[in-house]
Amino acid sequence: MHNDLATVLIDDARLQQRVRELGAQIAADYAETGDLLMVGVLKGCAMFMMDLARCIDLPLAMDFIAISSYGQSTESSGVVRLLKDLDTDIAGRHVLIVEDIIDSGLTLAYLRSQLDRRNPASLRICTLLNKPERRDPEVSISVDYLGFDIPNAFVVGYGLDYAERYRNLPYIGVLKPEIYSGH
Ligand code: IMP
Ligand code: MG
Repeated sequence: MHNDLATVLIDDARLQQRVRELGAQIAADYAETGDLLMVGVLKGCAMFMMDLARCIDLPLAMDFIAISSYGQSTESSGVVRLLKDLDTDIAGRHVLIVEDIIDSGLTLAYLRSQLDRRNPASLRICTLLNKPERRDPEVSISVDYLGFDIPNAFVVGYGLDYAERYRNLPYIGVLKPEIYSGH
């Protein structure tokens, strides 16, 4: 598995350090609202959300949503589909969307507009990774909490997959192009 990677971009220690910083910042920002509902975008958010939640020293709730993205390719289809909706009614709630990565921004733009319509008290975005160079010029996303800006490369690990694999790597790495060049 490790041999399929060209480089390690962010190692485990840097990930955990940044997650602790984000957790502290979020805890400080939400302390006065008395409410925090973390909404994880499956499945890429899994590792990040669980580590982040443990670093937020506040009462909070968690829910999950699933959206189709790339299937088995590394390029966005531009077609976004809701695969699993929330269990929670978010009207009046302070909602924090937790994403693994923002690439074109299409997924998050869709999700934000869907959730906005349900009248949350507030709606913010937390993403572990961001690829600013890849943003669709038509899409404007304001990220409230960001782990790392990364260059334009296909990355895996710490929840991020290629064709459902590599999510369990404890670091973020760049996949060797020959691994996905056949697709
Ligand atoms: P967007 O709609 O183009 O912003 O794509 C966002 C989704 O695509 C993320 O939630 C990921 O599931 C997936 N994605 C984008 N870039 C990568 C990457 O480098 N590695 C793994 N998944 C990615
Ligand atoms: Mg994915």
